[in-house]
Amino acid sequence: MKINGKTKTYGLIGNPVEHTLSPVIHNVLADRLSKNLVYVPFLVEHGSLMDAIKGAKALQLRGLNVTVPYKSEVMECIEEIDEMAVDIGAVNTLVSTKNGYKGFNTDMSGLARAMQSEDITITDEHVLILGAGGAARSVALLCASLDAKEIMILNRTFEKAKEVAEEVNTVMRRKGKREMVVAMDLTAFSEIPSHKYLAIQSTSVGLYPNIDDVVIEEDAFYQKIHTGVDLIYRPAKTKFMKLVEKHGGKTMNGLKMLLYQGVIAFELWEQVTVSEELGNEVYEIMKKELEIHE
Ligand code: ATR
Repeated sequence: MKINGKTKTYGLIGNPVEHTLSPVIHNVLADRLSKNLVYVPFLVEHGSLMDAIKGAKALQLRGLNVTVPYKSEVMECIEEIDEMAVDIGAVNTLVSTKNGYKGFNTDMSGLARAMQSEDITITDEHVLILGAGGAARSVALLCASLDAKEIMILNRTFEKAKEVAEEVNTVMRRKGKREMVVAMDLTAFSEIPSHKYLAIQSTSVGLYPNIDDVVIEEDAFYQKIHTGVDLIYRPAKTKFMKLVEKHGGKTMNGLKMLLYQGVIAFELWEQVTVSEELGNEVYEIMKKELEIHE
């Protein structure tokens, strides 16, 4: 990589940022597509987000990714927000505009593209979502937007599942679309009809180092699942995925979602299309990076 007077700078703001894989994604894409740009992590201290955004604009950074804990707070610091990001309530990508930045959420479009690349469809599927936190809410919204047949949210705290279901249904109603989300208590899974479900594990249960944890252990649950997607990518095969596979289901972890949220951000910034072939090349490099740090 040759840095010169025309090199453009992109970056990631968050806290912490030192374990991020995003520089790998963007710097490899830049290299393969012969773009004169660099992507670097920026640690932003609590209370300094607005200053960081103003500073980024003053330095004419073309774009930024935003990670934990700033994905909601950043919405107060920018000029314009894409409709899907408003509905989700989180922004992870900023694109420079004339006077500031426009915010997007490429986490969810990234998940959709990752699933597509693995031939996993959402449209017309019966979807089960495990969890009712921010990630689960976004996933429910994505599945509803992509016209899943029905969406069931299962969560340890039933009230939270109900809240999320109602929130997503409200968004759908406002858009003149069908309401399709229902809440279900975790213990009630045995009562769900015996359709074959697409299940999306959207909690942090099972995340390294707690690799033997899983939200639901019972075989009766996994018998109803044809495909299990886990948003976690560390470990590469979570307990949830192992249980889905034990019952003959197909699985996918969250690493391709991480890849494609980056790919889509890069495409927004540089106005290019990243081929699936190049996506896969970056994916292999990300997997190697993870192994090095395991
Ligand atoms: P985020 O916003 O990052 O998605 P979160 O708001 O911390 O995450 O939500 C975590 C989710 O994991 C919640 O749905 C939580 O269930 P509760 O609503 O009952 O708290 C779920 N979760 C966390 N630990 C769990 C556990 N040990 N068993 C089952 N669910 C768990």
